[in-house]
Amino acid sequence: MKKAYALVGTGGRAEFFYGAIAKEFKDMCELVAFCDTNQTRMDYANHLLEETYDHFPVRTYMANAFEEMVDTEKPDVIIVTSIDRTHHLYIIRALELGCDVITEKPMTIDEEKCQDILDTIDKTGNKVRVAFNYRYAPHNTKIRELIANGVLGKVYSVNFEWALDTQHGADYFRRWHRDKRNSGGLLVHKSTHHFDLVNFWLGTHPDTVYAAGGLRFYGKENAESRGITSFYQRAYGSEYAKEDPFALHLEDNPHLKSMYLDAEKEDGYQRDQSVFGDGISIEDTLGVLVTYKNKALLNYSLHAYLPWEGYIVTFNGSKGRMEVRVREQSYVNAGGEKQEEGRIEEKSITILPMFGTSYQVEVDEVEGGHGGGDPALLNNLFNPDIHDEWNRAASHIDGAMSILTGIAGNKSLQTGQAVKVNSLVDFNRKEEQ
Ligand SMILES: NC(=O)c1ccc[n+]([C@@H]2O[C@H](COP(=O)([O-])OP(=O)(O)OC[C@H]3O[C@@H](n4cnc5c(N)ncnc54)[C@H](O)[C@@H]3O)[C@@H](O)[C@H]2O)c1
Repeated sequence: MKKAYALVGTGGRAEFFYGAIAKEFKDMCELVAFCDTNQTRMDYANHLLEETYDHFPVRTYMANAFEEMVDTEKPDVIIVTSIDRTHHLYIIRALELGCDVITEKPMTIDEEKCQDILDTIDKTGNKVRVAFNYRYAPHNTKIRELIANGVLGKVYSVNFEWALDTQHGADYFRRWHRDKRNSGGLLVHKSTHHFDLVNFWLGTHPDTVYAAGGLRFYGKENAESRGITSFYQRAYGSEYAKEDPFALHLEDNPHLKSMYLDAEKEDGYQRDQSVFGDGISIEDTLGVLVTYKNKALLNYSLHAYLPWEGYIVTFNGSKGRMEVRVREQSYVNAGGEKQEEGRIEEKSITILPMFGTSYQVEVDEVEGGHGGGDPALLNNLFNPDIHDEWNRAASHIDGAMSILTGIAGNKSLQTGQAVKVNSLVDFNRKEEQ
């Protein structure tokens, strides 16, 4: 029997899922409906279904008809790819209506919403999976394998530096993510991937988090302090934007135009705001110190305006050290070739034994976005016969543990204090009512 899927949030990321269901996994899966607050974007998704995937258009439901959609279309699984602050609404309602859920990261953006999701899972027994594609990239799985096989002995500490470049990093400052109420800021929206990798690599959970940082590069005040005097609100129709290397020109890209510019008449969602505009409430420069249940220490940083994209991570253990460097292709969601998203341009894993000669660990190249992580994730999500030696399917616990590091970090940014992760949610709470 095929499983039926309905998808909520038909923006840039959605095609990754509905395209796979309509094509590679069509013998196992059935796409039954789209749901969104924007009819134009749903219609465009249906256009892509027909044009690109040779699939018939599916029925569309406005967000306020979500329950009607579940009632009528009877999906087994709801895929949530709407903006972050709305994830919990659909996850919770879907679970209550008897569906399982696949949600994009971050599972949600604050501890109250996280607790509500955990309580609903307890109450309904239905399942939530979080689409952590980075785990599946072969080099990231290899790191897990090397650590699990004891190559480094006991891992005492991790230094993890994530670089977002002036194209991809800037994109979080052009649209809804720039308002912390929508995304939880980059510590939640973006770092959830990175904190999940650390949990996955070390096989442990976070204990205490201290964070520092702020908005240092993007935003009007920062630009003014560097002597910039010409500003604009959005790129479309702006003369100033023509001179701004950070501007996104929606009208030059037919895909972006159809998905966003032509759709904004309905909801006023502007995809191309100036990264040097007012009203940005997220950070672009972050440092985080995390201690883990197994006593490991993480020293993490994120910058969103660097000349290259990727990460450097080093692990120090009782038997030696591992140094990893990964440079990724930069990408603007919905503005480039899907396969290019996170394509690996350079990677190396070096083991430095405490006594002995250092050596490189080779990892096979795999085709597909996020260094081959994307196709492996899709197979794991949609192929019922999959067996995964590394148990990479991320549950609601994984979803929670990764966002809680960022949520604790946000609290630490506000208070200047270290925050205990277990003060944020209760994983074993049985609701009293
Ligand atoms: N894992 C990854 O590599 C990856 C990459 C990109 C995006 N994402 C995630 O995918 C999600 C969507 O990101 P995107 O880049 O596609 O954003 P987007 O802005 O392109 O699309 C978001 C969609 O949500 C819709 N929406 C807004 N409010 C809604 C509501 N109340 N109910 C239903 N729909 C609503 C919008 O109309 C839009 O169609 C985010 O959670 C993001 O974190 C993950």
